[in-house]
Amino acid sequence: MDLTMTINGSARRARAVPAGISLLTALREHFDQPGTKNACEQGECGSCTVYLDGETVCSCLVAAGQAQGREVRTVEGLAEDGVPDAVQRAFIECGAVQCGFCTPGLIVAVHDLVHDARPADRLDDAMIREALAGNLCRCTGYEKIIEAVHRAAAELRAAHEQVSAK
Ligand code: FES
Ligand code: FES
Repeated sequence: MDLTMTINGSARRARAVPAGISLLTALREHFDQPGTKNACEQGECGSCTVYLDGETVCSCLVAAGQAQGREVRTVEGLAEDGVPDAVQRAFIECGAVQCGFCTPGLIVAVHDLVHDARPADRLDDAMIREALAGNLCRCTGYEKIIEAVHRAAAELRAAHEQVSAK
């Protein structure tokens, strides 16, 4: 089948995509977007998290055909004009990456969490752990990841306060 969708802001088409493959496989093998990782292929680990029409999904659980004509944003599409997003910077600065396999999915999930939070929201550790319960990491013990979430949220809050003060 032919598949068309918008990926990270660009209209894309792939030809001769096998019927029945997942969005995850389509992204990696037919749309040249290898950032999204495949770990369990069963909706258990979150490493394949992407945005589909603005909502985060496990792309291993979405049939590629279901994304026809829709908008997908992957970890490759989070940087703006080549500048990494606050979440990406925070992961690096806090040392929240070890083997890195969970990282693309976690970064998308954290991006959703902190960009969705209202400026007045103060995320605490319990809220963060609950929001990220579907994203498994076998390496870090989560402490550095939680630190990174706090750092990114603080940066976004400060940026918002600066804009509001103008
Ligand atoms: S690969 Fe999709 S949830 Fe694990
Ligand atoms: S950094 Fe290795 S699984 Fe998370």
